[in-house]
Amino acid sequence: MTQPIPDTALNAVEKTGFLDIELDPTLDLFAEIEKLKKEKNAVLLAHYYQEPDIQDVADYIGDSLGLAQQAEKTRADMIVFAGVHFMAETAKILNPEKKVVIPDLKAGCSLSDSCPPPLFKKFKEQHPDHVVVSYINCSAGIKALSDVIVTSSNARLIVESFPKDQPIIFAPDKNLGAYINKVTGRNMVLWNGACMVHEIFSLEKITKLKVRHPKAKFIAHPECEEPILRMADYIGSTTGLLKYTQTDDADEYIVATETGILHQMMKASPQKTFIPAPPENNCACNDCPHMKLNTLEKLYLCMKYEVPEITMEEDLRLAALKPIKRMLEISSKAGI
Ligand code: 13P
Ligand code: SF4
Repeated sequence: MTQPIPDTALNAVEKTGFLDIELDPTLDLFAEIEKLKKEKNAVLLAHYYQEPDIQDVADYIGDSLGLAQQAEKTRADMIVFAGVHFMAETAKILNPEKKVVIPDLKAGCSLSDSCPPPLFKKFKEQHPDHVVVSYINCSAGIKALSDVIVTSSNARLIVESFPKDQPIIFAPDKNLGAYINKVTGRNMVLWNGACMVHEIFSLEKITKLKVRHPKAKFIAHPECEEPILRMADYIGSTTGLLKYTQTDDADEYIVATETGILHQMMKASPQKTFIPAPPENNCACNDCPHMKLNTLEKLYLCMKYEVPEITMEEDLRLAALKPIKRMLEISSKAGI
């Protein structure tokens, strides 16, 4: 049953993006969240970039493809999405009949924001003979303008499913697009977007780290810029990076992606050392400020009161559903 929400807290959600209700500090949030999952038949899906406490209480932790696949097949009545807005929105697009809640509605994504639908529509009109392949890190508006969606796990596979002479627009990540162009020998037209976290790594500091840790492997997410990727021993999605550290025989890794993934790497291989690749300045810029807006407290409150909820116009949902379904079908046929 949904709990009644204090009016002031509900009114504030529109402005703040989350429920701000004071909690008793003695409350065991882990136990309470488990209780709410059962009471509401809710599934808690979390991305690897969430803070460790949220990962530890999740039913499933994964990369963007794994999370979309879980959202597609869940039988739960409510999906609690501990990730950013475009991920929860994808879950809603796949599950119009289910309630999808997110701890903080303002957990956005710089990459998604770099591609506003009205501008992208004009860009698309300038390339009428191109198909549109969009990275899942985009809004429902961009998905609705796309022919197929990809993630960093399946981008290569899906791009290669088109004939070599098929002109393609790739949006919104220019770094992932350039990487896929390089490995497939394509010449896709790239939208000029990027992720604020993956663009901040310092080539110089990573080079110095490699000198100090000569046996460490350097692994990177394909949202990183080309000079960083050129140095990498392995390039892959968050799931790909995690699996690599589990199967590879090195003892040390320098990891160029958001720091949240290190939690699962350390859990899976406690005998190994994981060093986060350093950013340009001394900020904590390899922590995604959007992902980290979600906290255990906000997570508990959104489950308890079922607010904030992801909602969407049905026309937009149906238009965005088509390219997502196409991605899921191609991935499933390929066994990923
Ligand atoms: P994956 O988890 O799909 O590798 O994506 C990384 C990312 O930046 C998500 O926002
Ligand atoms: Fe977006 Fe980058 Fe944060 Fe992922 S890490 S949610 S791509 S800003």
